[in-house]
Order: sequence, then C-alpha cells, then structure tokens
Amino acid sequence: MKNEWWRGAVIYQVYPRSFMDSNGDGIGDLPGITEKLPYIASLGVDAVWLSPFFKSPMKDFGYDVADYRDVDPMFGKLGDFETLLKKAHALGLKIIIDLVLSHTSDQHPWFQESSRNRDNAKAGWYVWADPRPDGTPPNNWMSVFGGPSWTYNVRRGQYYMHNFLDSQPDLNLHNPAVREALLDEAKFWLDMGVDGFRLDATTQYFYDRTLADNPPREHPEPMFFNIDFPVPFTMQEHINDISIPETVGFLRDIRALLDRYDGRMGVAEVGGENGIQLAAQFVSGSDRLHTAYNFSLITGREPSAGLIADAVETFKAQPGKGWPSWAFSNHDVVRVLSRWGGESNADPRLAVTLLAALCSLRGSAFVYQGEELGLTDAVIPYDRIQDPWGKYLYPEWQGRDGCRTPMPWTEEPGRAGFTAGDPWLPIPAAHNAHCVALQEKDPHSVLNLFRAFIAWRKTVPALKTGEIEFFDGPDDRHLCFIRRGGNQDVLCLFNFSGNASRVKLPGEAGSPKGTAFESGALMGIVKDGTATLPAFGIFCQLV
Ligand code: BGC
Ligand code: MG
Repeated sequence: MKNEWWRGAVIYQVYPRSFMDSNGDGIGDLPGITEKLPYIASLGVDAVWLSPFFKSPMKDFGYDVADYRDVDPMFGKLGDFETLLKKAHALGLKIIIDLVLSHTSDQHPWFQESSRNRDNAKAGWYVWADPRPDGTPPNNWMSVFGGPSWTYNVRRGQYYMHNFLDSQPDLNLHNPAVREALLDEAKFWLDMGVDGFRLDATTQYFYDRTLADNPPREHPEPMFFNIDFPVPFTMQEHINDISIPETVGFLRDIRALLDRYDGRMGVAEVGGENGIQLAAQFVSGSDRLHTAYNFSLITGREPSAGLIADAVETFKAQPGKGWPSWAFSNHDVVRVLSRWGGESNADPRLAVTLLAALCSLRGSAFVYQGEELGLTDAVIPYDRIQDPWGKYLYPEWQGRDGCRTPMPWTEEPGRAGFTAGDPWLPIPAAHNAHCVALQEKDPHSVLNLFRAFIAWRKTVPALKTGEIEFFDGPDDRHLCFIRRGGNQDVLCLFNFSGNASRVKLPGEAGSPKGTAFESGALMGIVKDGTATLPAFGIFCQLV
C-alpha cells in the first residue's frame, strides 16, 4: 500500500519569523513553534509546511540560504528542529520543510568559492557570463524584485545571474555536480525524518544556456503579486530565463530520492502566468513530484467562482493525471480576506466560507497561518517595512510584510502574546480582536468553524480524493460543485456575497441525505431542489 497521506491533505503554512517567539528577541523561532504545535494539531490539519529556518543573512528572510544543513541561530539550533519534528510526529502532524534550490545566499561557501576567480573547483556552480564589449550585462533579463538579473563581480571580471536579489546568486543547475550536491542536502533532512519538501521557485531552476534576450511583451502582465502597474519584470516574455524544459528532469531526480523513503512527498511552488499548465507538467505521471501549487487563486480583487472553477478544470484537463494543490494565501501575497473581501468590508464570515471552499476543492489545500483567524493584511508604515521588494516599490506597493506580521495569540496590545520583546513587524491593533485566545471562547469564531469543518471533512472521504463537477450558481459569487468518490456524492455550495441567495440544484443534488457540515448562522437549507443560503452561506452535505 502506498502511503499517500498528502493526497487531499490540509497543509498549514508556518512562517517561522512570525509564529511564536520563545526568547523575547521579537522574532519567532523553532522552540516557539514547538510550543504551539498542540494548537496546530487542534486545527485538525494533516501537515505543517515550515518556511525556511536555515542559516541565512536574512536579506530575503531566509529564502537566501547560507547553509542548507543548519538552523539559523535566530531560530534556534539543529537540536531544536529535531525536537520540533519529534513532537509534531507524536501529535500526528507531518512536517514539510522549504528547500530553496534555485539560488543560495551570496554568503554560502559555494558562492564564496565560486566568486573568488574563474578557475576554482566551484567556478561553474553559478551562472557566470562575460560582459558585453561595452561593459553592460550579457542580456536583458530582469529580476523579479527589480533591476537587471545580473550583477558584476570584480574578481572574476564577470557578471553573475540572480532571479531575485543580487544577494541571491542563481545556482547553475545545468551542472551535474550542483544537482548532486543539492540532492545531498535534501537527503540530510530525509534521513532526519522530515516528511517532505516544499520546493521554492521551481520555475527558476534552469535558464537557457544561449543567454538569448527575452522578447518584450506586448502588454505587460496585468497583475503580478497584486502589483497592478507595470514593472520591468512584467514587460518581457520570460522564455529564456524561466520554465526551461530541463526542469522536469531534475524534478524526477528529486522524486527518485523521495521514493527511497516511505511516505515522503514533494510539492512545487510554480509561479508565473502559465502556472496551472506548468504545475500539471511538474506532477504528471508517477515519476515527477507528488503535487504542486500555483498562483492562479492568489490573485484578483474579488472572490470569483469562475476563477476558481476555471483553475480546477484547467488543471484537470491537462495531460498526465497529476494531483493539484491550491492556496488562497501565503507569505508572498496580500491576505485573501483583504484581497477578496475589500479594504473595509473584509467580513469574518467570508473567511469561514473561503476556508471551507478551499478545503473542498479537488486537490491538497494550503492554509497560511492566520487565515484560520480571518486576519486581514496589515498596513505597514514606511519606517517599519522590512521586505526589500517593498522598500523598492514603496509607496506604490508596500511589499510582502502585510501578510507576515506576527500571529495574534492574545489581546495584549502591541505584542499579542507573540513575544515578550518588540515584534520585528508591528502587530495591528485590529488583529488583537481576532486573537486566538478570544476565538477559542466563541464556538462560531472563524477558528472554531474552521476546526469544525476539518473535523467534518474527515468523515467524508469523497472530499479528500473524489472527482469534482462544477455547476452554475446564480452569479459569479456562488461556487457550486459536487465531489464524487467511492459511493459518496457531496454537494458543496458557497456564497461569497453578503446577500442571502437561492441556488437551483441539478436533479440528483436536490435531496440531501446523511451528515451535513453544521456551520451555525452560515448554514443553508435545501428544499424542493433549491438551496437557500444566508449571506456568506455554506451548504455541504451528502446527496
Ligand atoms: C518565495 C519568496 C522568495 C522567493 C525567492 C519565492 O517564491 O516564496 O518568499 O522571496 O521565492 O526565494
Ligand atoms: Mg526569538
């Protein structure tokens, strides 16, 4: 029997800097996470994805790794991770760690050596190229965070490539020695017992070795990380620096390594416009990754049933029968409630409805810390902004700090039970009102309704692995589908609007039977082939 625990799992993302601080330095850490594992287990989720906690100069808050095998002192020690892993396993939680294989920090010993001169043992481990005769960079590639993808290095008299910050040099994955070394780093953690990897920036793994220019885009990408104005990165077609066909070969190598262990998994982060198609490619068949998530539902300004149904259908229509993953929020984007709920009217009821919808789609669901509390995105004053991307685009865009503020555990103003010191990012006063301590006491809080939904979902296997069939609701604010698996059919209706509504049901769905998800004031009723839903209503029941 294959151990496919990840199929249809609910995976909770922890951003270590902002989950729980155990030592009063204002920054979350591993012992803090360990202390809160019972809370995570109480949600009923299957697994935890930990964003990077490795040794790092933190220029990109850990996505710039200086040592893949050690914990940054800010987060604790390697032993603290082993304790965390053991406790998580004892609580029935899997642990997925974040592997950043596309690039390292410029402080990584590999880059230190590679940049020394042109003929050291690691000379070919990064992407080096001569300047053009006029001294300018080898081509026109632009980095995600702004500016050219190339920075000059005096000692080598060459440029090195970086898809992100200039302190994140791109590893040359065309070099077999580099791929080998990376697999070895991964093996270190598998031997320790981690249950899987979230693979960062997989679309940036390779580049076209001819270093040909990217062509300009006719129309800049309309919305990129909720930046809705053109930036140089969105003005070109990334055909030569991103999503190069070689990627699949390396994903196969990662899969082969994972398959040497029991019950381990790999989930790819797939950015970019063709995210759904690429994600499907990366998980097609049984020798590529187990699953992948893309950014198609991490966009837009309002909840759209059409957007969600299209994404799920488009994935399903791709060749290869792979298993998708979906997320509405993560540490890189505006929190879903602010994005889809509007600046001022983000309603906690919508938070519940979105969580239930996310965890009902065909795929594995990624829930970002604080999403279970219905948190909105924080507005960060300029002098507190930490994200270099935000500093670059301020005041037009504040960067990614708004979703990275610390978890509000208690009502304590300013600290919210997260730290005994000064939090590294301000905790909005509005978040205190949504803190865990308060929500624990209210059976109809977002937190408790999320728990109730996950508990109910566990009794309905079709919601985990069943097929999905969408049907039209009265408008784009109604997501309607049936999940079918084994001999179960589950009717799922979600009203993303603040108005009560009626949904006409297709024939067989008109007569619900068996257990329903009890969502209190949000619960719809079905009578004579029609569902009546309250504002932000939910109706999930066997039919
Ligand atoms: C991560 C980001 C990070 C980038 C570079 C991503 O896609 O999620 O947080 O800045 O990769 O590593
Ligand atoms: Mg700390």
